[in-house]
Amino acid sequence: MSEAPHGAPIKTPGQLVAAIIASFAVPIVIIVLLVIYVDNSTRTGAGTDSLSEAEVTARIKPFAQVDIRDANAPRVYKSGEEVYKAVCSACHASGAAGAPKFTNTADWAPRIAQGFDTLLHTALSGKGAMPPRGGTSPDDYSDFEIARAVAYMANNSGGSFPEPAQPAVGAAAAAASGAAAAAPAGASDAGAAQAAAAMAAMASVPQAAAPAAVGAQSADASQAGKALYQQVCQACHAAGVLNAPKFGDKDAWAPRLKEPMDTVYNYALHGKGAMPPKGGSTASDADVKAAVDYMVSAVK
Ligand code: HEC
Ligand code: HEC
Repeated sequence: MSEAPHGAPIKTPGQLVAAIIASFAVPIVIIVLLVIYVDNSTRTGAGTDSLSEAEVTARIKPFAQVDIRDANAPRVYKSGEEVYKAVCSACHASGAAGAPKFTNTADWAPRIAQGFDTLLHTALSGKGAMPPRGGTSPDDYSDFEIARAVAYMANNSGGSFPEPAQPAVGAAAAAASGAAAAAPAGASDAGAAQAAAAMAAMASVPQAAAPAAVGAQSADASQAGKALYQQVCQACHAAGVLNAPKFGDKDAWAPRLKEPMDTVYNYALHGKGAMPPKGGSTASDADVKAAVDYMVSAVK
């Protein structure tokens, strides 16, 4: 029996056991570490998906989101049938709350006899249990679209109104004719031309891109005014909510415009009665003034 040569590292049974365990454990630890290294997609930290731009943006985005629409995007009008189905049918399909029932000629005959303008006026400003615009905002359904819904309902219930002509409808039409009348007189007045172009764009089908293009070329200030009006002010001023002077309604604006323009600006900037300061927005003073100019230009 020869002894192990001098200098061999394993001299005792204990060391042998340790060497065997180590020779298993070390490769396994290395493999585990490699697997973790390769498959690190569920882990957090730099270099992982959790720090990708999309995920970070999603995590830090503000709670309140404002849906800003492109003021220059051509508007796609809904048909009377679409508006009826989306909004008016809630009451008018069943006759809920005493609403004249869709296709019931007896319900509709006396109302149709009042004429289209009266029906449209009621639909826009409300009457009894009928909420103004069927409860929608002018942002979602324009006067023109409401008019189409009125015609759709009336014509399916014994009426024979012509499909509303786009320039001849409701407040937008009043404003359009006001602005259109002003435009030729003061052709140098960029504001009036802008308003006319804007109203023409609102009142025309999306295919007619020309008026929108005219608007796009107008001065920055009136552009900003129009945009702010459409985002904020029209919530009240389009339909005259809370007795706000209605866009394009000369009678409503005339007494106010007897005051100096600075006073009118001040009301818009700092509020007056039910009119919140800056219409409740955080727009700059210049933009609010531009919005006032835009509204005023429609009634000059
Ligand atoms: C919340 C229920 C409700 C909704 C929604 C509603 N209406 Fe009405 N509507 C009524 C009621 C109630 C009346 C009857 C009002 C009265 O004569 O006192 C009415 C009456 C009308 C009239 C007849 C007005 C007149 O002068 O006799 C028209 C037109 C009309 N609605 C249009 C619409 C249009 C268009 C929509 C959708 C954009 C709509 N309504 C959505 C409840 C509703
Ligand atoms: C919440 C509804 C509401 C909004 C939004 C709103 N207004 Fe008004 N506005 C009113 C009311 C109501 C009045 C009438 C106040 C009065 O005479 O007591 C008014 C009046 C005005 C007047 C006339 C002041 C005068 O008598 O000379 C101007 C100008 C005006 N608003 C500008 C704006 C502008 C610009 C915006 C958007 C930035 C805006 N409004 C948004 C409700 C609103």
